[in-house]
Amino acid sequence: MSVEEILNRLGIQPLNSGACGAGWLETPGGGELRSLNPATGAPIASVAMASAADYDTVMDDAAAVFERWRLLPAPKRGEIVRLIGEELRLHKDDLGALVALEMGKILAEGKGEVQEMIDIADFAVGLSRQLYGLTMHSERPGHRMYEQWHPLGVVGVISAFNFPVAVWSWNALIAAVCGDCVLWKPSSETPLTAIAVQNICNRVLERTGWQGVFTLVIGRGSTVGEKMLADKRVPLVSATGSCQMGYRVAEVVGRRLARTILELGGNNGVIVTEDANLDLALRAVLFGAVGTAGQRCTTIRRLFLHKSIAGPFIEKLKAAYAQVRIGDPLDPQTLMGPLVNKPAVEEMLDGLERAKAQGAEILYGGAALEQNGGFFVQPTLVKASAFMPIVSEEIFAPILYILEYENLDQAIAWHNSVPQGLSSAIFTNSLISAETFLSARGSDCGIANVNIGTSGAEIGGAFGGEKETGGGREAGSDSWKAYMRRQTVTINWSKDLPLAQGIEFKV
Ligand code: UN1
Repeated sequence: MSVEEILNRLGIQPLNSGACGAGWLETPGGGELRSLNPATGAPIASVAMASAADYDTVMDDAAAVFERWRLLPAPKRGEIVRLIGEELRLHKDDLGALVALEMGKILAEGKGEVQEMIDIADFAVGLSRQLYGLTMHSERPGHRMYEQWHPLGVVGVISAFNFPVAVWSWNALIAAVCGDCVLWKPSSETPLTAIAVQNICNRVLERTGWQGVFTLVIGRGSTVGEKMLADKRVPLVSATGSCQMGYRVAEVVGRRLARTILELGGNNGVIVTEDANLDLALRAVLFGAVGTAGQRCTTIRRLFLHKSIAGPFIEKLKAAYAQVRIGDPLDPQTLMGPLVNKPAVEEMLDGLERAKAQGAEILYGGAALEQNGGFFVQPTLVKASAFMPIVSEEIFAPILYILEYENLDQAIAWHNSVPQGLSSAIFTNSLISAETFLSARGSDCGIANVNIGTSGAEIGGAFGGEKETGGGREAGSDSWKAYMRRQTVTINWSKDLPLAQGIEFKV
């Protein structure tokens, strides 16, 4: 299948509108954005970005549709999401390929990302019949208490380049069954995948008369992004990206006392104990550190090896790194594609220079690769110590710091010593080590795994992390509650008016 055919089936033109409310805006006025293929540096297509005025047009549509959407019974909203899941199934291969083409992750991972969208659609459909509230026993006779969950409003979703479509779906499809409309601002690195997703949704929305439930503004952070953060009509902003971006979102949205769901940096560690299954650990570390070219927020960035197994393990890891096929993400033989852009390559190289200056030693890789005009790098192993400041930083590239430890308490202390708290793992066959890692004095992360790596989380669990990762939770479990407003209801069906806390107040 040719790239032209894929683009065509997903409705991508040479020049695309970057703003969609109840319909695509014909001539958005925010300037032109060219989307590049990171494997070649060549442009794929362009987008006319939304201006501040276009943002208002889109937002007005979303706010108007919300008035009706919130009254549609949740299972009926679930039916719309089910139809979107069906469309996604039809377009899985094309959309997965477009993710690979525009973002640079390999095809298998691009399709895997679309599978996450399909899975969360299924999850959301089931959820649409289960937005449960609790009932409570009132302390007063003839009274009933319960809580109910209502739609919140138009939810803003800011997504990052590395999961250009899945992260939107965790937010948008859950928000939709909760009765919210969604305004999406995708990363400027991946506008075409966002347009393709909007086209897929529009097919269902047009057919069912619900245009405007899912809306899109592609534009600059300084115009449309800032407008969304400050917009009183947006009661919740869910943002995925860097800590720096998160600080800004928290500040501006917090100033108007609205809500945020923040999913920010990760600096994920894996501890391998002396009794671990090393073959398992090796495979997990390879996927977790090299997969998506180190550009997942769940990527393994720190590896804590017990000193008794460190030497041979590092040798095996080096051999495995040497086997990694780097190249065109659309080639099924490729295991690692390029970084997203040139600044990402520069940031990696700069990070390695600083690591060396702090005393770290490069064990494997460390260089950019000239290949076809693309932004390729070598996956890199670095011997470091926990006291080097660089180890506390998240550099969005395939750099793995290896640290040797003497005992589990030390490994856990080092593991928890960084500002980020997203995902973590231990490889061990010791029940005591595993349970220690999972205990209150163990991993301080939102995700803690035993004998699997830190990345590739399933959608059924709540996804997110602690500390500078931002504290938000998305996707499964009861994450839906963040997209609704809770109302506590007390009904008096007696003929008396007893006050709570036994207070007497009679004239
Ligand atoms: C991200 O990198 O922002 O757990 C999300 C994972 C994926 C999601 C990553 N399911 O690696």
